[in-house]
Amino acid sequence: MAFYESQVGVLISEDKLQARVRELAAEITRDYAGKDLTLVCVLKGSVFFAMDLAKHIDLPLKLEFLGVSSYQGGTETTGEVRITTDVSKPMAGKHLLIIEDIIDTGLTMQFLLENLRARHPASLKLCSLLEKPARARTKVDIDYKGFVIDDHFVVGYGLDYGEVYRNLPFIGVMKGK
Ligand code: PRP
Ligand code: MN
Ligand code: MG
Repeated sequence: MAFYESQVGVLISEDKLQARVRELAAEITRDYAGKDLTLVCVLKGSVFFAMDLAKHIDLPLKLEFLGVSSYQGGTETTGEVRITTDVSKPMAGKHLLIIEDIIDTGLTMQFLLENLRARHPASLKLCSLLEKPARARTKVDIDYKGFVIDDHFVVGYGLDYGEVYRNLPFIGVMKGK
């Protein structure tokens, strides 16, 4: 029995995730053909999704990493979004595609969109693997969306509970949360 099995049930299987990642990558490849694309991967939650997606985008893209944290490892947002790591280059004039794991209350993305817009990119779009409309506190438009999910606390494929479970290859639900 795997270490997580008594605590986590499968919500979206690895096969389903990988199939959707390829579809999104194909869309992004078509839309950004001829443009100088920069993926802005939001640490830590988006890393697995962002790297799988990047592998299937057939364009000469660049990678940047931006760390933000507001959950402090728990199941409820603190409502205070903090930048923990900033990008390594100026973002002005670039075609930015933010890669995120989940839009839950939307507070993290509201903060990030404002923050990046203020740096005057050539364009700014958002790709999120998951959206949880039940808990939305602000409206966030997702340009590329993987799955819409119900109000579960989800883990795996980058998403954590107390910093653990990020390395599960599927999206799971914490039993009893
Ligand atoms: C999580 C998740 C998103 C954000 C979504 O990050 O990865 O970035 O919260 O929630 P929201 O829409 O309610 O703001 P977290 O703060 O847990 O940091 P992490 O990515 O390092 O786990
Ligand atoms: Mn995150
Ligand atoms: Mg987290």
